[in-house]
Amino acid sequence: MTDGYIVYTDGACSGNPGPGGWGAVIMQGETVREISGSADNTTNQRMELQAAVEALRMIPPGSSVKLHSDSAYLVNCFNQGWMKRWSSNGWRTSKGSPVENRDLWNQLLELSGIHTIEWIKVKGHSSDRLNRRCDELAREAINTGGGAGSETDNPAVNCTAERTPERKKNSKTRRLGILTGGGDCPGLNAVIRAVVKGAIYNYDIEVVGFNNGFRGLVENDAALLGDYQVSGILNRGGTILGTSNRDNPFDFRPGSTDYRQTGEDRSSDAVENLKKWEIEALVVIGGDGSLLLANRFSKLGVPVIGIPKTIDNDLPATDVTFGFDSAVTTATEAIDKIHTTAESHHRVMVVEVMGRYAGWIALTAGMAGGGDIILIPEVPFEYHYIVEKITERRHRGKKFSIIVVAEGAYPVGEEAVYQQKGDVKRLGGIGPVISREIEKRSDTESRATILGHLQRGGSPTSYDRILATRFGVKAVELFLDRRFNEMVCLRGNRIESVALEEAVKGTKLVDPEGELVRAALAVGTSFGYPLKSGEQHS
Ligand code: F6P
Repeated sequence: MTDGYIVYTDGACSGNPGPGGWGAVIMQGETVREISGSADNTTNQRMELQAAVEALRMIPPGSSVKLHSDSAYLVNCFNQGWMKRWSSNGWRTSKGSPVENRDLWNQLLELSGIHTIEWIKVKGHSSDRLNRRCDELAREAINTGGGAGSETDNPAVNCTAERTPERKKNSKTRRLGILTGGGDCPGLNAVIRAVVKGAIYNYDIEVVGFNNGFRGLVENDAALLGDYQVSGILNRGGTILGTSNRDNPFDFRPGSTDYRQTGEDRSSDAVENLKKWEIEALVVIGGDGSLLLANRFSKLGVPVIGIPKTIDNDLPATDVTFGFDSAVTTATEAIDKIHTTAESHHRVMVVEVMGRYAGWIALTAGMAGGGDIILIPEVPFEYHYIVEKITERRHRGKKFSIIVVAEGAYPVGEEAVYQQKGDVKRLGGIGPVISREIEKRSDTESRATILGHLQRGGSPTSYDRILATRFGVKAVELFLDRRFNEMVCLRGNRIESVALEEAVKGTKLVDPEGELVRAALAVGTSFGYPLKSGEQHS
């Protein structure tokens, strides 16, 4: 369960009014976040207030917070009940003059209603380490003209849909939750950005981001996402929300990789947390595992919208998942590089790529990189056909060969190669096995390279940025149309949607008789098995 929060805040201003900045350090157990922001033509009091508002906005409702500030004025406003008196007095002081920064006071009033806050006056940055850190963050923010805190935790200073008490009463602001689950891939940030911007620019919809996949949903680790947090992330790999591919709320065992252990069913905590945040629907960005969980939540009555992601491209309900094109681009670049060294040393180079039980990455990167032999799980191979191809190339004067192998590929009659870590088995390692076998069966020198998680990292390609943006915007449209329990998808060049129930069925595999394989065969690629165009592989 969540512990209480310890928060330090500080504001700084050069000139009153003038350029200002604010910073905050938020601690919960072992987790520490630094956030900051800046504004032009502002005042010191505004920055002090802004720091407290932004820090409290990062904290889930219902939490207890010890808030440390060096502003006696701010601390007294709470401890002596001034703020409540002003609000009931039409935001006028006891002398009748209007209270400045009423917008921020209003937000603090609301936030103090949903958290239990203890305000603590600290001596100031010369004698308090954490207060000094907040001051540093504030000053850095003035200099950089923006957030200086950790990139993932930048505050929503420009959030256009803050739920002030008036807003709550007068408008129909709706709330969407969002999380990224499963293995990361390039384009996740692009889709988060599209959902947040699509929601707050065009409609009165707020977006709450849950951190670290379903774990954040269970542990209520969440915060409102505004324009500020999603600015500048379109081209960034990874996910600002963090992800996890083992925290299943229905079988929850945080921190454990021992799959023999039985976890706890914490799905009701997850549902409860959605209610606390007044979230109407949850957007789950994930691959097959996360979408299955999303589907289970839909059966508990949680309205869910799915967005498919995976570098493996193995979801049948969409022609393409974002992340795939970026992974293929990375793998192709790697194959191009391997080519030059293979040629120099007259070696057989084996490049192992990811993809689990589907050969999409191997096939497409292999074709794009001019692989001589492509081995995919859909076509079990035989070593003698591989050696035959290498020999045939030698006879044609080509002293090197490139083999692109999917991690899930395996020889006829054998099993795929796995790596065991604790109780968890993961595909991987077939590349070096093939390399050794080639050296045994021929007089050729061979080396293997496993590309591994390189394929999941780095900047998304333009294709993935665009697809992710289209998916994110469509998810917001589904929400507005109350089309829940559906997943957005690409069909041809159209963004559509499909029932989640259907979307989670099966795995999309490469068709050994399909046009892609036939095109590869036509340019002389071997699949380690005598496939011919139109011939059935059994
Ligand atoms: O599903 C994406 C993927 O990258 C697979 O291609 C690969 O087998 C697997 O995830 C690796 O997962 P992990 O992040 O657990 O190493």
